[in-house]
Amino acid sequence: MKFSFAKPSLPKSGIVAVTVAAERSLGTIGQDLDRTTGGALTRAMAAARFAGKKDETLTLLAPAGVDLDRILLVGVGKAEEISDLALQSAGGTLFAALDKAGDEVSVLVDLPSGAALSGAAAAAEIAFGARLRSYKFDKYLTNDKKAEKKEPKPALRKVTLLVEQHDVAKKAFAKLDGLVDAVFFARDLVSEPANVIYPESLADRTRALADHGVEVEILDAKKLRKIGMGALLGVAQGSAREARVVVLRYNGNGDAEDQRPVVFIGKGVTFDTGGISIKGAAGMEDMKWDMGGSATVIGTLFALAARKAKVNAVGIVGLVENMPSGTAQRPGDIVTSLSGQTIEVINTDAEGRLVLADCLSYAQEICKPKLMIDLATLTGAIITALGHEHAGLFSNDDDLALNLTAAGLKVGQPVWRLPLGDAYDKEIDTPAADMKNIGSGGGAGSIVGAQFLKRFVNDVPWAHIDIAGVAWAKKDSATVPKGATAFGVRLLDRFVADFHEG
Ligand code: BES
Ligand code: MN
Ligand code: ZN
Repeated sequence: MKFSFAKPSLPKSGIVAVTVAAERSLGTIGQDLDRTTGGALTRAMAAARFAGKKDETLTLLAPAGVDLDRILLVGVGKAEEISDLALQSAGGTLFAALDKAGDEVSVLVDLPSGAALSGAAAAAEIAFGARLRSYKFDKYLTNDKKAEKKEPKPALRKVTLLVEQHDVAKKAFAKLDGLVDAVFFARDLVSEPANVIYPESLADRTRALADHGVEVEILDAKKLRKIGMGALLGVAQGSAREARVVVLRYNGNGDAEDQRPVVFIGKGVTFDTGGISIKGAAGMEDMKWDMGGSATVIGTLFALAARKAKVNAVGIVGLVENMPSGTAQRPGDIVTSLSGQTIEVINTDAEGRLVLADCLSYAQEICKPKLMIDLATLTGAIITALGHEHAGLFSNDDDLALNLTAAGLKVGQPVWRLPLGDAYDKEIDTPAADMKNIGSGGGAGSIVGAQFLKRFVNDVPWAHIDIAGVAWAKKDSATVPKGATAFGVRLLDRFVADFHEG
């Protein structure tokens, strides 16, 4: 989709979208349009009880007095509540309402006086939201394309935002556009099926980040055996696909006094059958997105590099496929992790923590992290606790937890902190090894998973974000169509911008 920015003037034909603030308040251009149509806007709003609330829409077809096919009114709410998030939401809503209605739309960005954002910033945010919503993963739809020929439907291809300071808006959008590229890159990785995305192919796809100045290092299985990633390799050993670990390095702040990088670590289980502790058949196809944490980490490095963030960042993703087979690890097997600690694998379906454990150790071995944040679709229990609205946050550092929480709220990717504690840690004690990989039946499965990870964290500020409930959406929301969400890319990009740049 193409976005352009131009001076406001009433378009002569086609489709026009107009922002409307609360209490049906039209700006100067909206009032103009209302006059030319003989008051059609005012009458339609009254007739439909359209109030201009956030994300409310109203369509007027072929209004008299103008040559327009369609006018879409999009509510943006009360002037004092108009935020960047609200405008992104309006952009997404606008896209959803108009996609399939035509291939071009002009958007009159018409904010009420008293709005906290400039018109230019608002236009950029609307475009950002629209593009985020426009994501489609339809590369495998050959039959659909045939069906469409019988009854062709347009798809929105060009959006023109009409706003006074269009040059400023264009610049602001350029920055956000790179972030959308990163989000789409991550959504693609998550959407791909597991016969296409497996450790080797996922590792290969990260090479695209080299174009943005990210150094890509791929460790193959032989190397992983040599350095001793026994926990990660134990998970991979049942699969015909070999494990990989990818290290992504972005050095955007070479002159910094403190050169230590911010490190992001991602669970990349390209398919999770459960292994010998096999999952049920129902819904198992969802486990193609068990590499969502790794996609978020890759997308985050992409986003930081694309906007040339002034930060040193490292991304480490552990890529394995968890399969049952004659070579698979068995319940009761004891593996030696990279840290040297031994783990009794009671349940082969608690595999993400085994992968992350070695990645956490590796991070501390190869760089002196300023802090570490891991992301993982780690536990079904986090869905019981928080549903699909918040990701679970665990941390050994209150400032880090606060900063992540704040960043999440700003971008609409909220996280909710859950506790850690010694009593939970005891759950994973076992007489046979240094620890076991599941609890003893005391409940709190997500916390126990986090406690397991904590045993691989030395004196480094660390946070674990359990994204099992938010990595994939079953229904559309304003800026995220159903499917892969890339939850965490925007959050971590904002976290870096607000707390670790410069
Ligand atoms: N990948 C799953 C967690 C998951 C479940 C993600 C549902 C997304 C949706 C993870 O590897 C897993 O199987 N966890 C087990 C842990 C248990 C064996 C302690 C779980 O949650 O059941
Ligand atoms: Mn599992
Ligand atoms: Zn898993």
